[in-house]
Amino acid sequence: MPTAEEIREAQRVTWAGLSAGWEKWDRVIMDQLGPVSTALIERLGVAEDQHHLDVAAGTGEPGLTIARLAPKGRVVLTDLVGEMLDVAARRATAQGIGNVDTRVCSADDMPFEDGCFDSVSVRFGYMFLPDMAGATAEFARVLRPGGRLCSAVWIRPEENPWTTIVMQAIAAEVPMPSPAKDAPGMYRCATPGQIAALYTAAGLGDVDEWDVPVDLVTATPDEFWQMMSEHVSLAVAALQRVDESGRSRIRDRVVEAAAAFERDGRIHVPGMARCIAGTKH
Ligand SMILES: C[S@@+](CC[C@H](N)C(=O)[O-])C[C@H]1O[C@@H](n2cnc3c(N)ncnc32)[C@H](O)[C@@H]1O
Repeated sequence: MPTAEEIREAQRVTWAGLSAGWEKWDRVIMDQLGPVSTALIERLGVAEDQHHLDVAAGTGEPGLTIARLAPKGRVVLTDLVGEMLDVAARRATAQGIGNVDTRVCSADDMPFEDGCFDSVSVRFGYMFLPDMAGATAEFARVLRPGGRLCSAVWIRPEENPWTTIVMQAIAAEVPMPSPAKDAPGMYRCATPGQIAALYTAAGLGDVDEWDVPVDLVTATPDEFWQMMSEHVSLAVAALQRVDESGRSRIRDRVVEAAAAFERDGRIHVPGMARCIAGTKH
């Protein structure tokens, strides 16, 4: 079992490498994940003077959307990886959002005082943290009493064809060992109630979880392949294990599978996320 620092170091390398893909495919990614932000923001109850913390904020969501809703407030975007936050800062500038700060730090050790935020969000970050329970205790620590924590994770692969069609195409080329139990990865938090139990153990109340559908829309099957092979952690890592001719066969399989999801002249590949909300009492 790798140590916490080894996990963080592997995550730093992975996400520094993926940041260019996330910036390139920003519009498609934001459209796909937008419904999850909407669901999280509804439960956060954002006021115009909200002081909000977005953890594992990556390229800036949902933090930048919250900053727009809280023009008299302030949003702090944190992430382990400076390259991802650099993209977030460029997006903030491009959108004319000035009430945000970025801070490189790990979710389980944050340089903030107790009770200094009205709300905390973690969209698709939990599954990469070395110590999910320790991080949840940190989120509870920095929340003021009455403050809300909302996070999102992916549910099981069977309900996320947008990743499984790529993973099945890769598995037809090279053996894909099952990830070690509790190893960081996209589907590590898929078990119902898993994150809710961490909230409860950290002393949060009113804990609730619900599923939110997403739709990955691309112009063509080939565009689907391009974006998946350039920004999805699971796919990018697996593709490093094949040579050029293997990659070309995988591409052909993915393009054929994605074509089956054509609707109204575009490719719509579905998925399902889970949102978890709780309140600090
Ligand atoms: C899938 S991205 C999510 C980005 C953004 N929240 C979104 O939904 O678009 C996962 C992010 O988790 C970050 N991350 C991984 N390990 C972390 C850690 N220990 N502490 C903070 N962030 C971490 C990665 O750098 C990456 O930016």
